[in-house]
Amino acid sequence: MALTAGMPPARHLYIHVPYCVAKCPYCDFNSIAGRDAEHAAYVTALLIEVQRLPRGPYDTLFIGGGTPTLLAPALLARLLSGLRSHLDLAEGYEWTCEANPGSSDAERFALMAEHGVNRLSLGVQSTQDRLLRFLGRVHSAHDAEVAIALAKAAVPRVSADLIMGLPDQGEDDLLADLALYRRHGLEHASVYHLTYEPGTEFHARRARGELADISVQQSRRLFDFAWDALEGQGLVAYETSNFARPGQESRHNLGYWRQRDYHAAGAGAVSTLEGVRTTREKHPERYIEGILAGGAAIWKSEVIGRREQLTEAWMLGLRLAEGVSVSRLEALGDQAARWRPLGEALAREGLVHLHDGRIRLTRAGRIVQDEVTVYLMPR
Ligand SMILES: C[S@@+](CC[C@H](N)C(=O)[O-])C[C@H]1O[C@@H](n2cnc3c(N)ncnc32)[C@H](O)[C@@H]1O
Ligand code: SF4
Repeated sequence: MALTAGMPPARHLYIHVPYCVAKCPYCDFNSIAGRDAEHAAYVTALLIEVQRLPRGPYDTLFIGGGTPTLLAPALLARLLSGLRSHLDLAEGYEWTCEANPGSSDAERFALMAEHGVNRLSLGVQSTQDRLLRFLGRVHSAHDAEVAIALAKAAVPRVSADLIMGLPDQGEDDLLADLALYRRHGLEHASVYHLTYEPGTEFHARRARGELADISVQQSRRLFDFAWDALEGQGLVAYETSNFARPGQESRHNLGYWRQRDYHAAGAGAVSTLEGVRTTREKHPERYIEGILAGGAAIWKSEVIGRREQLTEAWMLGLRLAEGVSVSRLEALGDQAARWRPLGEALAREGLVHLHDGRIRLTRAGRIVQDEVTVYLMPR
């Protein structure tokens, strides 16, 4: 097929489902509320796009959103069986699907497991109903508990997302949230600090003075607190906001953070192949039209220059416990003569380790990660 000609292989594939029950006021993901009547055409378009991709084998597949669990069971089954028949999955593959506790049920989770999904990532956000209301979530704390139990019964690996740093969230609230992982025996946690993204309702409310950032000191305390609490549960911080029992890390997300190539399909989905980053049409209607008309529904395609790759290598690498690889920096043209004196100064302050051909943040360095990263990166 002409559109696939010369498309390079990659080991990772991301599939986007942009629909949600309601738009959360803090979220700037490519997601849109309602439009149920469009779901079937969207799945058709997605599967057409997937058929044009190399068959694989893929090590990881990730269906994210939006809310993939919002699709009606029959449509979800069509999507999953279509993916299964068009794609080859490598032995030991990881196939994750995101789920919102407001639209999760045993039927959908069973369908996923039946088609080969082996990891579910649930957007829990908080275990306190008052904070879930503040976040505009469509589910209660009880719904999230039920969804986690159902997910655990359906697939071998389950992760839950939490958000910290909310204006009215005390350390007791966060402690109660973090206890969720122990209570359910989860092997993976994503704990994000609330960010006020331009274009979101929260961003506008902050501009009007109705919401305020918590202080930098309080943010640092919360990070410290979360890292201690989760490490106490055996969940190791393998990335600034991601924690796992050793061996249970998200291999898909590690692929992004290690700057591996990946394919993508769906509205607004971004693929990166051999230094070219391609973003598809963001609005699902335009995406569907473009694909059904035989096109690729590309919104923009850009070459990622060496300088940008280098910036990403520093920014993403320092977020990882494994750190940045010196040979990767050298391959991108950043010679040790530039950064080593800076790294050694930080090592004397106890903020980084330089060891085994890698630069890693220490625990003390992680608390001031942004400042350390800016200091080390080329200007
Ligand atoms: C695509 S959503 C996960 C699945 C599903 N859409 C849901 O919300 O349940 C990805 C995650 O990003 C996090 N997130 C989104 N916007 C955020 C923000 N502004 N600040 C912090 N975390 C955010 C949330 O924890 C959310 O679960
Ligand atoms: S946080 Fe999740 S459920 Fe809420 S709007 Fe964003 S993608 Fe949809």
